[in-house]
Amino acid sequence: MPLEILVKDNTKIKKFKTQLEETGNFVKPIYKELGYTIIRTNLNSSELDFMQNLFPNEIIRKYKDDIKNENAVTNKQNDTARDILSFTKIYFQDRIHAERLNEILEHVPLKYSIYSPVLLLNNSNKRSFNHETWSGLLTEDYYNKLLKFLSSNSGKANTTTTETLRVIAINRPIIEHCNILRRPYNIDLLYSMDHPTDPSLLPKETLWCEVKQNGIWQTWNPFHTMFSRGNIKEKKRIIDTFVDIENNDVIDLYCGIGYFSFSYLSRNCRNLFGFELNPWSVEGFNRGLKKNKNFGKSLDKKNDMRPEGIHIYNETNEMSDQRLTEFKLKHQQNNSNVLRIRHINMGLLPSSRQGYPVALKLIANHNNWEECPKITLHVHENANSKEISQGYIQEKVLNELKFFSDTKIPDMKYQFELIHLEKIKTYAPDIWHVCLDIDIIKL
Ligand SMILES: C[S@@+](CC[C@H](N)C(=O)[O-])C[C@H]1O[C@@H](n2cnc3c(N)ncnc32)[C@H](O)[C@@H]1O
Repeated sequence: MPLEILVKDNTKIKKFKTQLEETGNFVKPIYKELGYTIIRTNLNSSELDFMQNLFPNEIIRKYKDDIKNENAVTNKQNDTARDILSFTKIYFQDRIHAERLNEILEHVPLKYSIYSPVLLLNNSNKRSFNHETWSGLLTEDYYNKLLKFLSSNSGKANTTTTETLRVIAINRPIIEHCNILRRPYNIDLLYSMDHPTDPSLLPKETLWCEVKQNGIWQTWNPFHTMFSRGNIKEKKRIIDTFVDIENNDVIDLYCGIGYFSFSYLSRNCRNLFGFELNPWSVEGFNRGLKKNKNFGKSLDKKNDMRPEGIHIYNETNEMSDQRLTEFKLKHQQNNSNVLRIRHINMGLLPSSRQGYPVALKLIANHNNWEECPKITLHVHENANSKEISQGYIQEKVLNELKFFSDTKIPDMKYQFELIHLEKIKTYAPDIWHVCLDIDIIKL
C-alpha cells in the first residue's frame, strides 16, 4: 500500500509537494482531514524508512489506491485506511456524541509500528491511550476490534501468526548512555488479548515479534531487545554492494538479533562469526535463523544440529581472538583453518570504538592474506552534519585505527583507506548514524 504524509504546518506543503514532484513520487489530490493536510505519494510501505528520513517530523501512514476523497475514512463501510484514527472514528461514531468523539480524536496515537503480534505505540503524552480524555472508553471490545482491524489479514480464514496482532505496548525512548545491551527497559504493556483484564499476566518470555525486511525475517522479544526499522537501507546496501561476501568469512562484533549478520548470510558468506552480550538477542538471532530456514545452510549434525558455518557466541567480542583460534584448531584436519576474513561489522552506537582494537587483533592473527588480500571494516558511529561535511569523523576513525594498529600490533603494517561513508539515518536532531567502509590491506 502506498504512503501519505499528514502535515500540520501549512507552510511546509509547497516544499514537500515540490520535493516529491522532483523525484516523481507525488500523487494527486492533496486533501484535508481533521486539521491535517494530506499529501499522497506513490512510495509504498517498504519505503517507509526512506520516507521517515525525508520527512522526519511528519506523520506518515498507508492509504489504499481506491480512496477517492476525504470522506472515505469517515465512511462506515470503508475501512481502507488501516490506522488507529480511522478505526476510532468508525468505532465511536454511533457510540458517543460528536463533541466527545472530536475530543478523543485529538488524543489518538498516530505513530506506531506493527511488529506482529505487537502493536507498538510511540511514546507521546498527548497522543496516548493513557491520556485522561479516554477515561471509560477503552474497553476490551474496542481494543480487540482495533487489533483485528489493524491486522492486515483480519477476516481471512488462514490468518497466520505473522499477520495477527494480539498485544498493545508503548515504546519509550531508551537511555543511550547506560544501555549497552540495547534493552528497551521502558516498554509498557497496555493490553493483551489473552489477558484482557490484566496484561501484566502475559509471560514476557513468550512474546516474540517478527518482521520481514528485504525478504529477510528478523525476530526479537520487545521486552528485552530493541528493534530499529531505520537500518533497512543499510541492510540492503550490504546485500547489493558487497558481492565478494560470497564464500568468504565475515565477523559481526555486535551481532544482536542479526540485523547485519543476516544480510551477510543471505549473500552466502562461508563462515559467520557473531558476538553478542545480550542472551535475549542471541535467542532472537537463533529464532530468526530458523525462520529464514538457516539461509539454505545445511545442518552440522556433529555440532548440535546447528547450521554449518554459523558461529554465534553469547559473550563479549573480546573473546573473538580466542574463539577463532579454537575454531582453526578444530578444523585443522579438513584445511578450513584458513580464514578468509573479508568483512568485519562493528555496529555499536554511539560509537563502535570498543571494537577497533578487537578487530585489528583478528586481522593480525587470523586472516590469510594470500587468499583474502583485502578486509573491509564497517564502522558505525554517530556524528553531526558538520563533523561529516568537514571530514572530521572520517579523520578521527582512521587516526584511531592507525593508533591502535601502531600500538597494539606494531610488527604489522597496514594501509587503511576510507572507501565510503553512508549516512544511515538521523539518530537525534542533527546527529547521524553513519557507517564508514574502510578497506585494509597488508603492506
Ligand atoms: C546497536 S546494537 C546492534 C544491533 C545489532 N546489529 C542487531 O542486529 O540487533 C549493539 C549490540 O551490541 C551488543 N554489545 C555491546 N557491547 C558488546 C561487546 N563488547 N561484545 C558483544 N556484544 C556487544 C549489545 O548487546 C547490542 O545488542
